[in-house]
Amino acid sequence: MTIAHISDLHFGRIAHPGIVEALVDEINEGSPDLVAVSGDLTQRARAPEYEAARDLLDALKAPTLVVAGNHDVYPWWRPLKRLGTPLGRYRQFITDDLAPTFEADDVAVLGLTSAYGASIKGGRIGPADRAALAKYFRAVPADRFKVLVVHHQLHPTAIGPISPHPVARQAQETLDVAADVGVDLILCGHLHVSAIQPLEIIPGTPRIVVASAGTATSNRWREPTGPVNFYNVVSVEPDVFSVEERRYVPDEGRFVRDGVARFDRTN
Ligand SMILES: [Fe+2]
Ligand SMILES: [Fe+2]
Repeated sequence: MTIAHISDLHFGRIAHPGIVEALVDEINEGSPDLVAVSGDLTQRARAPEYEAARDLLDALKAPTLVVAGNHDVYPWWRPLKRLGTPLGRYRQFITDDLAPTFEADDVAVLGLTSAYGASIKGGRIGPADRAALAKYFRAVPADRFKVLVVHHQLHPTAIGPISPHPVARQAQETLDVAADVGVDLILCGHLHVSAIQPLEIIPGTPRIVVASAGTATSNRWREPTGPVNFYNVVSVEPDVFSVEERRYVPDEGRFVRDGVARFDRTN
């Protein structure tokens, strides 16, 4: 079972001519079971940006599971909409489902929305979201491989100069619930840094692997990794799983394997 994980597309700030097409073609050729999109589909939540994001989703042959990012909320200069219907355009163009789920083989995936109009850019996972997280994963068999998709970071990513960076509000409470219900893998974005790290959330409990994807298509690059675009491919097998980081090579107009992290399944 494979999941292509793309994040931080930021339509409105696309990095290279042809990169979106290269991404779509490559994902379609790989025939993943699912494409997980962890937010920031747009730059300023403008309608044309959402239309371009919708076109990308429609061009993907696999099912998609999408969560919103802070850039998908109405910007600060539209305060009434930002407070009243922050995800109005997201719901119009992308999906009304703010806690989407997907199951295939022995894999269960849940997306949670961490972007709200009032939470500025840091994100928040509230009590209702945590309740949904616990309810969903407690209802699936214990031996399923459990994947949580969320835009914001729940734990500091171990990357040099930008650490420490803020994490979503109530992140620790959310990680505690995720560990308690046996989440195996968290797919997130927001930092625009590709990083894969295993975390022991609660000492003595199985670790959770956090795969933070870089920006798949935008030029909102971040030091120290500089001008580079990434996405990930997750492969889940009966006893092991892996996360492959794929990096865009502008001169070649394609993504190439940058590294693969492999892990044993712990339950
Ligand atoms: Fe972003
Ligand atoms: Fe973001």
